[in-house]
Amino acid sequence: MTTIPFNRPSIVGDEFRYISEALAQGHISGGGPFAARCQALLEQQLGVPRVLLTTSCTHALELAALLLDVREGDEVIVPSFTFVSTITAFVLRGAQPRFIDIRPDTLNLDETLLERAITPRTRVILPVHYAGVGCEMDVILDTATRHGISVVEDNAHGLFGAYRGRPLGTFGCLAAQSFHETKNINCGEGGALLINDPRLAERAEIIREKGTNRSRFFRGLVDKYTWVDIGSSYVPSDILAAYLYAQLEARERIQTTRRRLWDYYLRHLRDWAAARNVVLPSVPAHCEQAYHMFYLLLPSVDQRQALIAHLRENGVMSVFHYQPLHLSEMGQRLGGKEGDCPMTEAVSDRLLRLPFYNDLTEADQERVVGAVTKFRG
Ligand SMILES: Cc1ncc(COP(=O)(O)O)c(C=O)c1O
Repeated sequence: MTTIPFNRPSIVGDEFRYISEALAQGHISGGGPFAARCQALLEQQLGVPRVLLTTSCTHALELAALLLDVREGDEVIVPSFTFVSTITAFVLRGAQPRFIDIRPDTLNLDETLLERAITPRTRVILPVHYAGVGCEMDVILDTATRHGISVVEDNAHGLFGAYRGRPLGTFGCLAAQSFHETKNINCGEGGALLINDPRLAERAEIIREKGTNRSRFFRGLVDKYTWVDIGSSYVPSDILAAYLYAQLEARERIQTTRRRLWDYYLRHLRDWAAARNVVLPSVPAHCEQAYHMFYLLLPSVDQRQALIAHLRENGVMSVFHYQPLHLSEMGQRLGGKEGDCPMTEAVSDRLLRLPFYNDLTEADQERVVGAVTKFRG
């Protein structure tokens, strides 16, 4: 019996051809022709004024924190239920996280808790569109605007999802994408910064290029390039951009496939879940999800662990997800304690993700569903 992995990257189109082209063109460092094509495609598809590819979503978030001049003493509001990178990029600049809890339905930041988390030091709110389902951006933007706070979306899961018809990643002044191997569209390791506030675009280019005005030089706007600001090295190789461009070109096929996979799990697990008090993902009517993952919320941590073990015995790999950040070693050093985010604490113990990748066949899904529904826990 072959094992069905939790994730497997798949070749979806012209990846090999484009990588060969990049090699033949002799431009394999950053900022090459394929990066330009990826950025233009994303700008046009999402309606974002400027997109810059980065080496990861983590680096796009670091770039955002640098761009917004986040510094010692600033506070940033972040859901406790997220990946470390959402907050570590800001803690790196000296910011203090204010962890807030999540909604029970979408597992996104609970926007009703925002007002009481805001202090005169709050600089940034970091909504994370968990599983590619939009946060309540109307309330988040309204609250942020009233208090003069910036919004940076962590859209690692949400490319091509939408909230009230508007693409995720277009709400904050900045948004971060991930093209990590586990994402719908990927290049192994990669990311992008979506710059919705055009005033931030020029400095973003400088910071991404080690603090130099190299991009202006290549556009012929200055006759030599030099060190002009702080910065780092966040530019991915054009070999990766070539791979990514092939994936981006296949976006409609990828999203259609993932929608089919997601709908299959829902259709075949709905009755089983209802009979056993297992909660399936919930997508509000005004959200168009990105079909990034399919998860189950088991009634208890023991049942979740037992189901993971049962699936493994049946050749199906499933995984849990984020541990509450406020209870992590670092989170506790920064002041987090048990009981701060009860929903996060309850959910992270009970969540299990099923295999979900572009090449997953219907026969594989049948095996996954068969194994899940055999579970008597
Ligand atoms: C919500 C979220 N943000 C950021 C990241 C980091 O992405 P990357 O690996 O591209 O740095 C992840 C990783 O999966 C994530 O789930």
